[in-house]
Amino acid sequence: MKKENTRTGIGISPKHRARIAEGLSKLLADTYTLYLTTHGFHWNVTGPMFNDLHAMFMTQYTELWNAVDPIAERIRALGHPAPGSYAAYGRLTSLPDAPDTPPKALDLVRILADGHEAVARTARAVFPLAEKADDQPTADLLTQRLDVHEKTAWMLRSVLEA
Ligand SMILES: [Fe+2]
Repeated sequence: MKKENTRTGIGISPKHRARIAEGLSKLLADTYTLYLTTHGFHWNVTGPMFNDLHAMFMTQYTELWNAVDPIAERIRALGHPAPGSYAAYGRLTSLPDAPDTPPKALDLVRILADGHEAVARTARAVFPLAEKADDQPTADLLTQRLDVHEKTAWMLRSVLEA
């Protein structure tokens, strides 16, 4: 299943391409899982902060949805298949699934803040591999994702400090 395209000759060794694709697959699974959780929280948030959080979560899930495509396509450009099933994401992600019963509004915010920090850790773990392999496009992608996840974690944590 994990069949690599050995004809890829972009100047990154097969070993490095495999390791980076593996790391990006984890980042894809984390991003997709956090997307789904955030969209679910957009639907199920309740309480006096409804308007603010409903809108904030929409901004966040839209950004996450737009992020999965470039991550998956970078994996393809490295010559590897991009995971695209719930089973694969369940195996690869470092994030817990969203709870069946929606928690209170501030607990939703806490879960999402933890989620963004977890995705940042996953992205950061791939960075040394990309640098070692002279893989600038992956390093650039990871830099952009780290910026978003760290900023979003800060915004969510700020809601909790109110
Ligand atoms: Fe909506």
